[in-house]
Amino acid sequence: MTELRFPDNFLWGAATAAYQIEGAARDDGRGESIWDTFSRTPGKVHAGHTGDVACDHYHRYADDVAMMAELGLQAYRFSASWPRIQPDGTGPVNPRGLDFYDRLTDALLGRGIDPIITLYHWDLPQTLQDRGGWTARETAEHFATYASAMYARLGDRIGTWTTLNEPWCSAYLGYGNGVHAPGVQDPGAAFSAVHHLLLAHGLAAQALRAGGAGRVGITLNPADVRPADASSAADAAAVRLVDGLHNRIFLDPLLLGGYPDDVREHVARIVEPTFVQDGDEKIIAAPIDLLGVNYYAPTYVAGRPDGAGGGAYPGTEGAVEFLPPVGPLTDMGWMIEPAGLTRLLERIATDYPAVPLLITENGAAFPDKTAADVTSPLQDADRIAYLDGHLRAAHEAIARGVDLRGYLVWSLLDNFEWAEGYRKRFGIVHVDYLTQRRTPKSSARWYQEVISRNGL
Ligand code: NOJ
Repeated sequence: MTELRFPDNFLWGAATAAYQIEGAARDDGRGESIWDTFSRTPGKVHAGHTGDVACDHYHRYADDVAMMAELGLQAYRFSASWPRIQPDGTGPVNPRGLDFYDRLTDALLGRGIDPIITLYHWDLPQTLQDRGGWTARETAEHFATYASAMYARLGDRIGTWTTLNEPWCSAYLGYGNGVHAPGVQDPGAAFSAVHHLLLAHGLAAQALRAGGAGRVGITLNPADVRPADASSAADAAAVRLVDGLHNRIFLDPLLLGGYPDDVREHVARIVEPTFVQDGDEKIIAAPIDLLGVNYYAPTYVAGRPDGAGGGAYPGTEGAVEFLPPVGPLTDMGWMIEPAGLTRLLERIATDYPAVPLLITENGAAFPDKTAADVTSPLQDADRIAYLDGHLRAAHEAIARGVDLRGYLVWSLLDNFEWAEGYRKRFGIVHVDYLTQRRTPKSSARWYQEVISRNGL
């Protein structure tokens, strides 16, 4: 019996990203990305793992799409690798790179699966990084050119275009604490990257619209920031600071027309924001049709004068203590708190009311219980419980009036989990990296059932 039904037309699917699954790092004229460089740098990625082969999806995409169809997926969110399209990030397009996304798109459409494309999921062409990467304004301009080239080839078949995935990670982890590529540790650079990423989004959105794109959006990883003590004024101030640096620094310019004053002041204490030029905020604020929300876990903070701050949040030292996660944790060490998803969706819908929402990622890493025997479906009851809880939380948000259009699980396949390499498994489908054999876990069968009933 279905006890919780989702709205008609609610879209069910799964998500992946190019560098995490494609492999084929040297095939068909692909250029180098910052993740190739970073993952080949000793000490940066767990056990020296790289995306050179990953899930070999570049060669196995047809079988993967057949599997998606078998699981009943209605939508598939994937990203395109910029260095496959423009090996150096500028200049002529590489037709063989475009051909791959052409084939993938046609395979999806042939199976009745709606393609949702992300133009940038962290694999910046290395040549552009050599010229400053996201701290250089020109990168934003080149991104718009790349977006146009993609639209020119695929715009007739792909209806939903998102520009960036989680620019918070690109900026703060890539240029702030250096945990992600390109591994820069410079708080000022992180803020310059935030701005250039937003500008890149705005310019690309303009280019996509000029080409005729109907549905244009961006995916963020907005945080549900909570106070350690709900009655403490100091904790409330810490929440406001972290919320500013994580959420409002992106959401306000995208959806309210400009950066919030408190965030502007905080940034100006760290770096002179000469990178913000007249007219930029207008470009960034061009209307979008959809906001992608990636949610995994809440963030708890306390306001303390001796707080260590968070390396990824420039200027929070001596003000904020990030509390260690408690309770049941995923294999990433992340808290499991579905209510955080309801709170987050409601908050976005209240403060930024005009834009429809899509959960573009939600899911969990758990160690395999029966990795030795992949002939029988892997029993991942912990993942099913995680997904079930979060779908109930999403349903609750809808019941409270949030305009939520769909849900994409992260991830279709076990894959290259960035600095964690292959040791963290997020897939609803198990990947044996020695044989590239795919085996749906019990969560995949459970999800198939959810989709077919449009409910839980
Ligand atoms: C968000 C990122 O977009 C994705 O690439 C990553 O694998 C998941 N979170 C899990 O960490």
